[in-house]
Amino acid sequence: MGSRLIGYGSYLPEKVMTNQDFEKIMDTSDEWIVQRTGMRQRHFAAENETVVDMASAAAARALENAKLTIDDIDLVIVATTSSELDFPAVGVQVLGRLGATKNMPAFDVSGACTGFIYALHCARAFFTAGMHRRIMLIGAEKMSRFIDWTDRSTAVLFGDGAGALIFEHSTSSYSGIIDTVVMSDGREFEMLHGSMDHHIIMNGPETYKKAVTLIPAAASYIMEHAGITADNVDWIIPHQANLRIIQSGAQRLGFPLEKILVTVDKHANTSGASGVLALSYGLDNGLIKKGQLVLYPAFGSGLTWGAALVRI
Ligand SMILES: CC(C)(COP(=O)(O)OP(=O)(O)OC[C@H]1O[C@@H](n2cnc3c(N)ncnc32)[C@H](O)[C@@H]1OP(=O)(O)O)[C@@H](O)C(=O)NCCC(=O)NCCS
Repeated sequence: MGSRLIGYGSYLPEKVMTNQDFEKIMDTSDEWIVQRTGMRQRHFAAENETVVDMASAAAARALENAKLTIDDIDLVIVATTSSELDFPAVGVQVLGRLGATKNMPAFDVSGACTGFIYALHCARAFFTAGMHRRIMLIGAEKMSRFIDWTDRSTAVLFGDGAGALIFEHSTSSYSGIIDTVVMSDGREFEMLHGSMDHHIIMNGPETYKKAVTLIPAAASYIMEHAGITADNVDWIIPHQANLRIIQSGAQRLGFPLEKILVTVDKHANTSGASGVLALSYGLDNGLIKKGQLVLYPAFGSGLTWGAALVRI
């Protein structure tokens, strides 16, 4: 019992915030940001634009791409940690926005920057159990909500956006979500977390050290588990948190630079939306092609980490 990818879509808010825009409002420079992170710009949602707005826009595009309506879906899972409303789940609100007329399950997963891998993990389990025919996975974040404008070390790192993938049940185990692994370690909670007043608290250098170890570890584990090597993988889409982390992880794994899909320069770190936004970018621009195997390792607050193997 497996799956196949039948649709994708993404949404980026209109407003682009460049490094030069940050230079005007805080003590930072384009040079510092590019050198330390590889980021050049990020999209910020409008003040009244919500996670549900972005998630619904990405979902609508994925449905259009798959030539389906929301009533053709059996389950919606949203990876997010930035919803403005504590409840109900973003997934349920998306059903309302898209005009679903039939009842179906919808829920959110909170895995921070690893959130989309957690969503893929759930979907794989549901397909394996034969419980759902079509599952829509959405990653949607408004990280700009959490920016502490007095903290230059975190303010420049994040962006907003959403992406969605639709998978359909398949009898082949060689397509769609091939394999997933997810992990967490609550002992490292203080390294990176949200504060009571909704700001990002992060020990940057410690987070960096963990990321360059755990991302390749998750990727190695899943390749071994699936019985493949870097040669069998067409694209690696690491969580887009920092270009140096991406390159160091990929090099440790033996991936040549041309197999690494990078969008951190354009989107910055969009947390749970990062990988699905990068995947959509790769598909939109003809980089990723039908039949190719994509490896997506991620790492984030929790600590959480994991990886997914998806055949397009
Ligand atoms: C945040 C990060 C880019 C900082 O880079 P770094 O090389 O570790 O830099 P440091 O934190 O050691 O700071 C170095 C200096 O730059 C300064 N600095 C921090 N942010 C700055 C900014 N936006 N502009 C200019 N200078 C800045 C610091 O104040 C410090 O100055 P000092 O030496 O005078 O004290 C890096 O630690 C990182 O990417 N960490 C991982 C973050 C991450 O991936 N988070 C999400 C995980 S999902």
